[in-house]
This record gives sequence, C-alpha cells and structure tokens, in this order.
Amino acid sequence: MKYGYFDDRNREYVITQPDTPLPWMNYLGCQAYFGIISNTAGGYSFYRDARLRRISRYRYNQVPFDVGGRYIYLRDDETNEFWSPSWQPTQSDILEYTCRHGMGYTTIGSSYKGIEAHTRYFVPLDENLEIWQLTVTNHRSTRAALKGFASIEFCLWDAQDDATNFQRNFNTGQVEVEDGVIYHKTEYRERRNHFAYFGCSAPSRFDTQREAFLGRYRGWDKPKSVEAGELTNSIAHGWSPIGAHQVSIDLEPNETAQFVFVLGYHENPVEKKFDPPGSQIINKRTVKPVIAKYLSPAGADAAFEKLRQYWETTLGILQVQTPDAHTNRMVNIWNAYQCMATFNMSRSASFYESGIGRGLGFRDSNQDLLGFVHMVPSRARERILDLAATQLPTGGAYHQYQPLTKRGNNDIGGGFNDDPHWLIIGVSAYLKETGDWSILDEPVQYDNEPGSEKPLYEHLQRSFNYTLERLGPHGLPLIGRADWNDCLNLNCFSDTPGQSFQTTTNKDGKVAESVFIAALFVYAGRELAAIAQHRGLEAEAKKYIGETEKQLAVINEHGWDGEWFLRAYDDFGAKIGSNECAEGKVFIESNGFCALAGIGLEDGKALKAMNAMRDHLATPHGIVVQQPAYSKYYLQLGEISSYPPGYKENAGIFCHVNPWVMIGETRLGRGDAAHDYYTRINPSARENISELHRCEPYVYAQMIAGKDAPTFGEAKNSWLTGTAAWNYYAITQWILGIRTSLSGLEIAPVIPKNWPGFTAKRVFRGVTYSITIQRKGPGNSISLTVDGQPIDGNIVPIPTDGRKEVNVVGILT
Ligand code: GLC
Ligand code: GLC
Repeated sequence: MKYGYFDDRNREYVITQPDTPLPWMNYLGCQAYFGIISNTAGGYSFYRDARLRRISRYRYNQVPFDVGGRYIYLRDDETNEFWSPSWQPTQSDILEYTCRHGMGYTTIGSSYKGIEAHTRYFVPLDENLEIWQLTVTNHRSTRAALKGFASIEFCLWDAQDDATNFQRNFNTGQVEVEDGVIYHKTEYRERRNHFAYFGCSAPSRFDTQREAFLGRYRGWDKPKSVEAGELTNSIAHGWSPIGAHQVSIDLEPNETAQFVFVLGYHENPVEKKFDPPGSQIINKRTVKPVIAKYLSPAGADAAFEKLRQYWETTLGILQVQTPDAHTNRMVNIWNAYQCMATFNMSRSASFYESGIGRGLGFRDSNQDLLGFVHMVPSRARERILDLAATQLPTGGAYHQYQPLTKRGNNDIGGGFNDDPHWLIIGVSAYLKETGDWSILDEPVQYDNEPGSEKPLYEHLQRSFNYTLERLGPHGLPLIGRADWNDCLNLNCFSDTPGQSFQTTTNKDGKVAESVFIAALFVYAGRELAAIAQHRGLEAEAKKYIGETEKQLAVINEHGWDGEWFLRAYDDFGAKIGSNECAEGKVFIESNGFCALAGIGLEDGKALKAMNAMRDHLATPHGIVVQQPAYSKYYLQLGEISSYPPGYKENAGIFCHVNPWVMIGETRLGRGDAAHDYYTRINPSARENISELHRCEPYVYAQMIAGKDAPTFGEAKNSWLTGTAAWNYYAITQWILGIRTSLSGLEIAPVIPKNWPGFTAKRVFRGVTYSITIQRKGPGNSISLTVDGQPIDGNIVPIPTDGRKEVNVVGILT
C-alpha cells in the first residue's frame, strides 16, 4: 500500500493520506536556520544547534505522535466550525489532502466544505527565518466569511532545560508585541542577545500566552480562542509563551487570498540590545526591514524562486538516466538531498534524534563527506578542518564534537579505535573531488589547543600511526571502546543498568582486536600512500604500503575463518564471527569492508566472503549485520547483545553497511548482485510496501528489522544516517562507476548485465562531462572516447585548454 506518489518532475513526494504509518518528515533550511516538518505540519525550528538554540517546541514520543508544529486553523464564522488544512491537529474530515515535500520546502493543504487552503513552508537562503505562505480559495457559490489563525509554541532556547526545569522556566517567559509582530524574548534581559519573532502580513488580534489561546486542559486540537473566533491579545508573563495571529478572510466565490507569516531568529550586538538604550525593550532596528521584506507575497515568492534555483544547481552537479526509475530518482533527487541533510544535521535532529543528545560524530561526519563533498566543496573543507581540530595529539579522536562550540565532547571522550582512519578517508574524498591540495598544508590544532597547530597532513599521519601503536596479541588492531559498530563493546563488561556501553570500560583494552579496523587500516593506508605519492613523498608512500602489506598478512593468518573473514577477538582472545561460535558466526562489517578494500580479490577470499553474505546474511529486505542473532545478553560483547534479535546491531538490517557489500560485489565484477542489493533497501523501490516499511519512501532509514524480528521489514530511524552517503557513493561511484580519483574522473561501471547502458551529466572541477555508456557485451571492460578521440585507460583527463564541456562515450564489453 502507498500513501502518495513521487512527482519527479517537481522533485517532490506527494502524500495523499495524512495518517501515514509514522510522521513523514522533511527539512527546511540549509545554512544556519533549520526546521523539521512532518506531513501534517508537526515539527520545530532551531538556529544552528537543535539543543542550545531551539526556537519552537516539539514533544518527542508523544501521543498522539508528532505534537507541536506550525499549526494553522481556519474558521467559518457562519457555522462556527474550525479545522486545520494540514489535518493535524484538529483531525477534521478534510478532502483532497496533499502534502508536497520538496527540496527545502513543504506545502500542505486540503479542502473543507468548499474552502481550499494550502500553506507553503520554507526557509529562504541567507536568512535566519522561515516563511509560511497561506493561500485560501473560496470554491463555494456564496461569499465566505472566515478567520485564519497561525500558531507556534516557543521553546525557552535550551531544549533540554526546557523539557525538565519547570520550577524556573514557568517564571522566565517574556514577550513584546509591536506593530503586529510578536517577539519572544525570554532571557533577553540577562545573558542572551537573541530573540525570536513571529510576524503576520495582515495582523489583527493575537495571543502570546498558551493558556489564553488553548484554554485550560485543552490541547492544540481545539484551542478555546479559535473555537470562540477571537484571540484575546494576551501577553505572556512566565508560563508558556506562544505566538498566535488572527486574520480575517472574506472571500467572494472563486476569490483567493494570500497571507504570509514569518517566524525568525535574530541576534543583536550586546551593546545595542535595547532601544532606547537603558530600557528593557528589544532593539528592533535591524530586524524590522527583514520582517517587512518577507511579509510581502512578492518578497516571499522571490525568495522561493531563489531556493528552487539553488537546488536545481546543487542537484545538477550529478544527474543520471539509467533503465531503473528508482535509481534515477534516488541519485538525481532524494539521496543527494538526504546527503545534504546529514551534512547539516549530522545525527542531531529528526523524528528519532531529539536534538539534545549527540553532537557531530567524528566517524559519522567523515563518512557523510562521501555523499556531499561534490555539492558543497567549500563547506566540506571547513567541516574537515573542524573535525581535524578535535583530533587528539595521540592521533585518536573525540568521538563527537559540539557544532556550536566546535569542541570535542568530553562526556563521551575518545578511544573508538576506528575513528582516526575516517579522517584519512574524508580528506581523500575531498582531494579527489576538488584537487585542492592546499588543504593538506592548512595548520590545524589538536584538541582545539591554541599553539598546537600542525598541517592537516600531519593529522593524517598521526591517524595512521594511531593503529600501529595499538596492535593486539594477534597483531590486529585493538578495538578500544568500539569500532564502526558502536555496540560491539568488548572492553565494557557492564552489568549495571543505565551504564553507557560506549564509555564504560572495565578492561584494559590490551586483548580485544578488530578485523574490521584491520581492513579499514589497509584501505585508509593505501589512500594515504596515494596522497603521499602524489606529493612526491616516495619513501613515505612506501612505508605506508609496507605497513598495509604487513597488516594484510595478519588478516590472512588471523582474520580468516575458512569461508569468510572473522569479525573480532574478544577480551579472552576468543573469536567473534567464526563458524566456531554458537551465535554471531558471520558478520557483515569485516567481510564488506575487506571486499570493498580489495582484500582477498586475488586469492578468492573476497569471492567466498561475498558468497557468505549472500548465503547467510542477505534477505529480501537487505543484508543483516550478523547471524545467528544473539539470543541473550553476553557480558563480554556489550550493547550488541542487548537488543532483541533482529533489531539494530543485533542482526538488524543496518542499511549503512549494506553498500560495503554492494561495492564488494562490484570489485568482483558482479553488477547484477550489486544492483540487486542496492534495490532491496532503496526506499523508492520499497514504496509499494509502505504499510510494512512504515518510514518515508523517499529517504533511507538507518535500520530495517531483520529476519529474526517479528516485524521483519519494518524500517526505523530515517533521515539521519550514514546510509545516505554510503548508498550514494556505492551507486554513483561503484555501480555506475563515475568515480573521482586523485588524477581525474574515472569511468568504471559495473552495471547489471541486462542494462543497455546509461547516460550521466557530471560537473567535476569546473568541467561538465556528458557521459554515455553503451553495453556491447556482458562484461565490465570499458573503452573510452573523449570528444571523439579514443583514450588509454579509464581516467578522463582534465582538459588543459580551458574547455568547459566534455563528451565521454564508454563501450562496455
Ligand atoms: C550509528 C552511529 C554510527 C555507527 C553505527 C553502528 O549509525 O551513528 O557512528 O557506526 O550506528 O553502530
Ligand atoms: C549507535 C547505535 C546505537 C547506540 C549508539 C551509541 O547509534 O546504533 O544503538 O546506542 O550508537 O553511541
């Protein structure tokens, strides 16, 4: 069953039934001001940091789901009936409901008794505000006398404190209302120099105290003052400041009216906070023109057009036409868009991430780079430098850093022994995309300590050495608190409820080893060697290759189980991911990453490993993390065995790692298998089973319940996941094979046998490449012609004569 359809031409997903299995979300904003918005107008907004600068309230894990939003009500003054065109919160019997989630905007509307109403929500580029454009049309044969109400509940800035510290917070709320604009200024009197505002293009009456608006013991579904048809002009003193506006809507038959509401955030210089100086009144001199500009429909429309253009250009960097509609749609629109959301949000704010927990993950953000570096190269550069500045002098890294302060998060610390290598991979992806070698010479601090600056390149060297200095009894890398799998906690041994599996370490960490990190080390080491080589550092490149060769030998001797790669050794030196184990015999991560890294290609191990994935882990809904699932809690394994079988890291389908197997299959030349795995978890290809999948059909979810779960096939934790970047990378760079390299654009497709070919347009280092791939035989060997001239090899040279357009034809045989 479906709840809507894809409108690819407009780059929208159109939801036609409001009660989707879960709220289906979209993101507003792409620079500093952000919002999440559901298909029924639920969600919230924040400035930069979802915890520390939360603008509006949202109630996570609430019943009914998805409460707190950008709610609009219409009221018919003749019948006294009122409804929400977005269905929530009134849940009225509306007709023709549609929600169009598009690139950076969402339009929700419906009809009710001849009145059609739609609201378009978006954040303009380069502004710290959001626009709600409400359009109302009277399709009745008679005149309609209506009222409209728009409302938002303010958050008292720190979302964590806002949800817990009521003894204080019920006393601090303050607002001002001036010229019909509501200003939320809680704590502005003391140490904040920022405030929020909510303006309206045709203000008449307002409310700013929640209880005055909703009435006692009422919810957003039937606000008392909407029911009464008149807001009370309340001024909030303490309790819960809100913004609510009332507008009059009188429409002749077939007449349309438009109203604009602007919700925004503004900062004043500390010395200019008040106007007049010495008063307690917000200085509104710089914000007023901004509000006025966007309250005009023309200003709002122009901003929308600019936003549309931005996405057109951004997505235009890579567009493909393949025989598979799901591939095209995800690559050209939704997967790229989701990669931008992971760039902006990391893992902070979604329907599943409350915005108060995690900062930016070191490992996560470096991997996310693979998916967004081509769209925002200069911001990718900045992200890399921020990440590297949280690296520790040991070469290790803080597991997370806080986006507002850019400092490493001390609560979680470091010691996740895979972390440092992702920096090498992130930087390498950046170099391949941009050719900007200057980044390696950029001075970057360690642990944000002034005076500790060293060139970025040295950070990469320390990342590499970090593992060399931490090898275990078999010569494999020690795992530390965890490797990619945050839940494989081999030094934790926690038997106390509530202890963090990630930060509790009851063992000295000198025994447990990770085969996954070994593979990662080999992969990252080769990338680093290529970088060194390119810089003319021959001896150093040789050293890196030498070390990766040594590690390869160790993997062959101690990391191979006979039919697949082992996963790890625990604190007793016992194998994990071996046929000898009772549970957890075979794992995806080490096998996927070894094959991806090309380990075992020559001696058949990679082939065996990929066959083991197919035979033991693959399901129609994707590839599970391991089998058999852990049926009970194992003290020596940690969080992985805390989950019931089939969920999360305990044999769930962790979509993030599926692409490693896809890439592994391409390295074996098996395009059919690679694309088949790609399709199994492709959300668009799962649209028809939305009833089972339950999450949005336009974005990846972190996890789909595995075959051991009673809910096999059900997705959870959509939007903010490394799945976005890895799938994008796998399909574009390995299956379609349009791959960035240090020396240029490499073309190496490994596509299904029955594809006649495909075309692509790729903007790379300022040149637009039009690429046509034709299949003339069933294999993967390719011969290329560039602007009509055959070339040797498969790397398209970067034009030296200033040409900006290049035609590439590839023949597969
Ligand atoms: C989550 C984390 C990521 C980790 C993965 C597996 O996606 O954000 O860092 O690698 O889970 O545990
Ligand atoms: C990852 C895992 C999650 C774990 C968390 C801790 O996100 O998926 O299960 O609790 O890491 O950092």
